[in-house]
Amino acid sequence: MSITLLAIESSCDETSASICKDGKILSNIIATQAVHEKYGGVVPELASRAHMQNIVPVVQDALATANIALIDLDAVAFTQAPGLIGSLLVGAQYAKSIALAINKPLIAVHHMQAHVLANLIGEDIPTFPFLCITVSGGHTQIVLAHSPLNLEIIGQTIDDAAGEAFDKSAKMLGLPYPGGPLIDKHAANGNPLAFTFAQPQIAGLDFSFSGLKTSVLYFLQKQTPEFIAANMDDLCASIQYTIIQILLKKLDKAVKQTGIQQICLAGGVSANKGLRKALTETGEKKGWKTFIPPFEYCTDNAGMIAITAYYKYLEGQFEEMNISPSARAIM
Ligand code: KG4
Ligand code: ZN
Repeated sequence: MSITLLAIESSCDETSASICKDGKILSNIIATQAVHEKYGGVVPELASRAHMQNIVPVVQDALATANIALIDLDAVAFTQAPGLIGSLLVGAQYAKSIALAINKPLIAVHHMQAHVLANLIGEDIPTFPFLCITVSGGHTQIVLAHSPLNLEIIGQTIDDAAGEAFDKSAKMLGLPYPGGPLIDKHAANGNPLAFTFAQPQIAGLDFSFSGLKTSVLYFLQKQTPEFIAANMDDLCASIQYTIIQILLKKLDKAVKQTGIQQICLAGGVSANKGLRKALTETGEKKGWKTFIPPFEYCTDNAGMIAITAYYKYLEGQFEEMNISPSARAIM
């Protein structure tokens, strides 16, 4: 039996729709929202309005690109949690409307589970169990994946997420939002050992980035704007190096603790070139098999919601029409 799904992602500032057929992604349309740039962060009310404008053309584009009609669908999936509630509501209501109209089941997907399962898209994919380090704008987690629907969080941030560490550092350097990709760009031309910033020592597999943030702040407060501008590449390279070191040290600890050597990367920060290179090189050195999803499946996208929905469909995990999205929910 063939299974064709439509999935919608609208948890933050990306409106995305994807068609998945038998576990293969046929389309993954992503509309980003430029409206937030001038505010230095995502404005929830504006995000909801932009989702309202984008959702119909994005879903139509996903269907047309995949050459699939609504009548061909076997189920409709949406991101149920976590995220901005006004944004989640737009995707949830639209998914429900389509499911009702075509009389097909509804599948609710957890955004963080989907980031991990983005690693199951494509040909070269990990086998279970594997470890996944999920690094996004809102979360930083080490996940032990026992099976597609059985994911165990074995470590997470106790304060800022890795993406926030990038974005807040960028803001202190005077770079526009979102600063993560800009730090990445400058870092490519800089010396990662030019400056030293704090690496917090936290017990177990949990992360902390607040000490790094404070040490960057105190350092920059003592510098002139001319010094910062002249040393931008080295500053970015050194901050990025410190964030990567914090992440990889905990990952190494998780590998030693679990004995699992298949390592996946997930979340928006996995677009970072320095992190991709460092993980690949560390993997080669330590004998790990590493997996990094293609760029379009790293940042927020509906393809990852679709692949997760596919595994939920196989298990018959459907929802009633009265299900509500949730801003926060345990994976
Ligand atoms: O997963 P994601 O798209 O959205 C959330 O669910 O949070 O992650 C967004 C985060 C932002 O903090 C952004 O600055 C960061 O990912 N990011 C990067 C890069 N591309 C995106 N951080 C560092 N280097 C990048 N190239
Ligand atoms: Zn995300």
